Amino acid sequence: MTGNNDQIKDLHQEKYSLLENKNEEALKGGGESRIESQHKKGKLTARERIELLMDKGSFQELGKFVTHRSMDFGLENEKYLGDGVVTGFGTVNGRLTYVFSQDFTVFGGSLSEAHAEKVVKIMDMAMQNGAPIIGLNDSGGARIQEGVVSLGGYADIFYRNTRISGVVPQISAVMGPCAGGAVYSPAITDFIFMVENTSYMFVTGPKVVKTVTHEEVTSEELGGAKAHSSKSGVAHFSCTNEIECIEGIKRLLSYIPQNCEDIPENADYKLKGKEERTELDFIIPESPNEPYDMRDVINGIVDEDSFMEVHKNFAENIVIGFARLAGRSIGIVGNQPMSLAGVLDIHSSQKGARFVRFCDCFNIPLLVLEDVPGFLPGTDQEWNAIITNGAKLLYAFSEATVPRVTVITRKAYGGAYDVMNSKHIGADLNYAWPTAEIAVMGAKGAAEIIFKNEIKNAPDPNKKLLEKEAEYNEKFANPYIAASRGYIDEVIYPNQTRNKLIYAYNMLQNKVDQLPRKKHGNIPL
Ligand code: HXC
Repeated sequence: MTGNNDQIKDLHQEKYSLLENKNEEALKGGGESRIESQHKKGKLTARERIELLMDKGSFQELGKFVTHRSMDFGLENEKYLGDGVVTGFGTVNGRLTYVFSQDFTVFGGSLSEAHAEKVVKIMDMAMQNGAPIIGLNDSGGARIQEGVVSLGGYADIFYRNTRISGVVPQISAVMGPCAGGAVYSPAITDFIFMVENTSYMFVTGPKVVKTVTHEEVTSEELGGAKAHSSKSGVAHFSCTNEIECIEGIKRLLSYIPQNCEDIPENADYKLKGKEERTELDFIIPESPNEPYDMRDVINGIVDEDSFMEVHKNFAENIVIGFARLAGRSIGIVGNQPMSLAGVLDIHSSQKGARFVRFCDCFNIPLLVLEDVPGFLPGTDQEWNAIITNGAKLLYAFSEATVPRVTVITRKAYGGAYDVMNSKHIGADLNYAWPTAEIAVMGAKGAAEIIFKNEIKNAPDPNKKLLEKEAEYNEKFANPYIAASRGYIDEVIYPNQTRNKLIYAYNMLQNKVDQLPRKKHGNIPL
C-alpha cells in the first residue's frame, strides 16, 4: 500500500511542487526588501499580524492566489499572489472569526478590484455564518492604476459594512495609512483601534489641507492615533504598538457575542457571599461640588480588573466601557464628575449614544452610573446642535431593549435625569444612593428663579438666597421624592451596589422586549 502511495506521489510530484512554489511565492508578499522596510517603520506584515491575532494554527487562508486583472500602466507585468490583502477565517480564543489584513508590501496595500472582491467574500461569509469580522487596514487607498473599478470595490465594501452592521461585530484596526474615501469602511464598523506614530486616517492629507486652508500640519497631527482618540473621537482605542493593538482587539472580543442572535459568554465566577464593597461608601465627597472619579465607582462594583474602557481620551465627561459582573459581560455608561463636572455635551452624548446602540445590537446589558448636573450651556453647544446630539443619547436609551439598570450616585438634574436611563424611558431597575439629588436644577439656580422677588426685596439678598437655596436643597437634594413615586425602585447603601446589581441582572437575564413593528426608526443623526 505504502509503495503504491509513493508511486502516486512521484507521479504528481511536479504538480505538488507547483503548489509548493506558489504557496512560497504568496508568503513573500511584495518581497524581502519591502518587508524589511515595513519592519523598519515599526510595523508588522499582514501575515505577522494575523499570526498574533488568531489562535495558533487556526488560520485558514482564502484567495491566496488571487491576482489583479489590470492591463494599464505596466501593471500587466507586475503581479503578486494575493494582490495586497490576506483574507480568511480562524479562531480567536476558540471562537470563529473572519479577518482581512492589508499587505502594504504589495502596491502599498492599495485596493484593486480583485483585492476588494477578496474582502467582500469574507464579509459575506462572516454575515452568513454569524461571526465577527476584523479588518487590519494598512493601505495607500484606491489602486491608482485601476481607476473606477477600485472605487467600485470600495463601495462594495461600504455597502456590506452597512448591511452587516448590527448583525455581526465589525472591528477595524488602522495600522498604517488609511486615507481618502477608504476611511469610511472603518468608520462604519463598530470599533476602531489605531497605533500611535505609524497609522493615520484622514479624508484629505496634509498637502491638500495646506492648499485649501493654508494650515501646516503633519500626518500624525492631522489624523494620527492621538488626534482621533482625543479630538475627533473617530478612534476608540489608541495603542502604543501593534502588539498592544492586537491584544486589545482580542480582549474586546471577549466581551461581545458572535452575532446579534447570540449572547456574550460568561466568565467563570463563584459568588462570594454578600459581595459587599465597603470602599464604595467613601467615594462621594462631602461637598456636592467636589469631583470624584467615576472609575473608582466602576472598579468598586465590577469584577476585579475587568473594566475595559472605550474612548478613554475623548469626551472625558462621560465614561464608557465593558466589564464583568460576577462573570457576566455588561456595558457601562457613567457621567464623570472629574471632567466638566460630568455635564452632558455634544461629544459626550454622541459617545454615549453610539456605545448604547452597540450594546443593544449585541445583547449586552447596560449599567448607567449617574452623576450629572445637566446639559452644558453656551452658544458653542447650541449652534453646534446640542439639541440634536443630546437627543441621540435619549433616543439610544429609549430604543434599547437589553436589560437596563441605573444607579444614581449623586446629581440627576433636569433633562439629563430623563436622558440618563430613567425609569420613564424604559430602564428596568433604578437605584439611588442616599447621596442622590434628583431635581429640575441645582438649588442656587432654582432659588434665584422661584424666589426672585423675595430675594430682591430682602434687606440682605445674599442671606435670603442662601436661605432659599437651603430650603430647596432640603426638599429636593435627596432621592426620596423620586422613590416615593416609584421612579427609584430602591435607595441602597453604596456598599450593597455590587450585590444588588448581580441580583438585578440575574433577574433580567431572560427579559423580552420588542420595539413596535417598523422599517427602522429615525434617530436624530
Ligand atoms: C497604487 C500605490 C498606492 C496606490 C502606494 N502605492 N499607494 N500603488 N495605488 N494608491 C505603492 C507605491 O507606488 C509604492 O510602490 C508602494 O505602494 C509604497 O508606497 P510609498 O509611497 O513608497 O510608501 P510611503 O512613502 O510609506 O507612502 C505611503 C503613502 C503614499 C502615503 C500611502 O504611497 C501615497 O500617498 N500613496 C497614494 C495615496 C493616495 O492618494 N491614494 C488614493 C487616495 S483616493 P513600490 O513599487 O515603489 O513599492 C482613494 C479613494 C477611495 O483612496 C475612494 C473610496 C470611495
